[in-house]
Amino acid sequence: MQAQSQAMTLSERADALEEHMMHELEHIVAKSVLFGFADGKLEIESGAALMAKNPGKYMLMGEDPRLPKMPGKPTLIDYFKCRFASTAHLLQSATHALKAGHDEKVVLACLLHDIAVVSFIRCDHGYWGAQMIEPYVDEEVSWSVRAHQALRFFPDESVGYAYPEMYVKYFGPDYRPEPYIVEEYKRARNHRHYMTARLITVNDIYSFDPNAKVNLDDFVDIIGRNFRQPKEGLGLDNSPSAHMWRTMLWPTRFL
Ligand SMILES: [Fe+2]
Ligand SMILES: [Fe+2]
Repeated sequence: MQAQSQAMTLSERADALEEHMMHELEHIVAKSVLFGFADGKLEIESGAALMAKNPGKYMLMGEDPRLPKMPGKPTLIDYFKCRFASTAHLLQSATHALKAGHDEKVVLACLLHDIAVVSFIRCDHGYWGAQMIEPYVDEEVSWSVRAHQALRFFPDESVGYAYPEMYVKYFGPDYRPEPYIVEEYKRARNHRHYMTARLITVNDIYSFDPNAKVNLDDFVDIIGRNFRQPKEGLGLDNSPSAHMWRTMLWPTRFL
């Protein structure tokens, strides 16, 4: 066994470990195609192949026991605690907005602006995030979360916002946003909620201060007043974006 595992490459060993862990579970965990994209793979394992590899087991069709347990009627706060991989950036941005004296819609927009990144997906995160919250917040909040995707690439001297130095480091000095982002920016510039979206970028803290004291409790009341929590549980209601929250609730369900 020792010799065999030494002969395996690192990625083969990781695959073997993952395979081993999958067998430890009572149910078969199938990966969505998206999970493979991140490893440069375009592939899907058929249901028949998975069943053949896991005799006597059924596909996972409910909660994934490896993830933090969510309550039966989850709230936005539960997602913050159990499904967002990191909340420091969101809390710091919202704290910044709160201290600057902005109104609650701006603070909520800052608190939610990157929820897609920390729970779901990076690409086009402003659009995903806006869609997730759209049924539950004022249009000003969801519109602004969507628009921050484009606005953060464009300076606005009237509020002291410059192109982030971090983007030069991350994307290189020659990076230019795609045409659809440029068009989105032009449309947003003339929109009545432009300044709310702009304030997300102003309060978007790019370097997290490890000494900053941030706490979700500071925002519970603002969430309560500005986020229409569905009584059935977020994701278990019948809103147009409920399926997105359910996907986070049960990300490894077979179907
Ligand atoms: Fe963002
Ligand atoms: Fe951000």
